Amino acid sequence: MDKKIMDTRNQPNPMKRRDFLQKTAVLAASAIFLPALGNRAYSATNAIKNKSAIPTVKLNNGLLMPVLGFGTYSLKGDICQRSVADAIAVGYRLFDTATRYGNEAFVGAGIKQSGIKRENLFITSKVWVDDSGYEKTKTAFETSLKKLGTDYLDLYLIHRPRGDFKGSWKMMEELHKAGKIKAIGISNFTPAQYKDLMSVATIKPAVNQIETHAFFHEMDSYNDLKKNGVQMEAWAPFAEGRNGLFTNETLAAIGRKHHKTTAQVSLRWHYQRGVVAIPRTVQKAHMMENLNIFDFKLTPAEMKAIAALDLNTSQFPEWT
Ligand SMILES: NC(=O)c1ccc[n+]([C@@H]2O[C@H](COP(=O)([O-])OP(=O)(O)OC[C@H]3O[C@@H](n4cnc5c(N)ncnc54)[C@H](OP(=O)(O)O)[C@@H]3O)[C@@H](O)[C@H]2O)c1
Repeated sequence: MDKKIMDTRNQPNPMKRRDFLQKTAVLAASAIFLPALGNRAYSATNAIKNKSAIPTVKLNNGLLMPVLGFGTYSLKGDICQRSVADAIAVGYRLFDTATRYGNEAFVGAGIKQSGIKRENLFITSKVWVDDSGYEKTKTAFETSLKKLGTDYLDLYLIHRPRGDFKGSWKMMEELHKAGKIKAIGISNFTPAQYKDLMSVATIKPAVNQIETHAFFHEMDSYNDLKKNGVQMEAWAPFAEGRNGLFTNETLAAIGRKHHKTTAQVSLRWHYQRGVVAIPRTVQKAHMMENLNIFDFKLTPAEMKAIAALDLNTSQFPEWT
């Protein structure tokens, strides 16, 4: 991974006194309650320190992408808006949404509420199956822009390899060339489906966003994407907690050694594999905890222990 840092320190700080007091109270409360959760993983000081310290990876077209972002699946209304604004306040810069989530307007509202400058964010959205095809993709893309309150996307993905996804790709290539999308990519594509797309593509996808977590390492895709220079991005980096991920004893034992939680060990594992992760949470303490993964390193033996957790099967059979 490229170790360049997305530097946000020069941004104007529009924090009002009331916001400052609220933030201070949240941080103080977190510092009191988190040790009671059974580990010393979190420190308010680190959360502040990490505010401008999310490393980036260079995509195959030269664009820098934060290695850690914020997922918004299933977040709606005020909770979505508030979570996005909170995530920006604690340091997240990459936001992942989709037409299918029905929340782009709320993500946009959260961004607006935060007061952050657009150029400091990395916004991803996705074209859904119903909008596949050349013309429909253009309309879907423009609708996403309008809802998000922006005039470009950093990353636009084909959500699933269904329908006329080759027609979608042709339009996405044009929108990319016109400067409306900084990078174009795919999601849920197998190596065979990637190859099929490449039979018509003139631009290689920059990213493939697929399910991957401690219980599903997707080694075939992992190796194929690496070979082809396509960045792998993890959806459900915690498997949404399925199969007991947050209480898994292997992850917990590793965490105890580093004074980190199972969530932090999971995210550090993604990072050391070179995979971008976009965990979702509505809790500010979890947002800060999930950012606090850049001050420790898993050993080769620990990476091997996590490699042994691979069940080589999806935790979301209902979506396949
Ligand atoms: N391309 C696709 O087809 C696709 C499919 C699925 C998802 N995605 C994207 O990937 C993102 C992430 O996946 P996901 O939202 O399905 O699931 P996830 O990030 O694996 O898990 C989310 C769950 O983890 C909990 N959590 C977060 N941080 C925690 C922590 N530190 N300790 C304990 N629990 C914690 C959250 O609860 P709390 O809110 O209580 O913290 C929430 O219930 C999505 O939001 C979406 O943007 C894409």
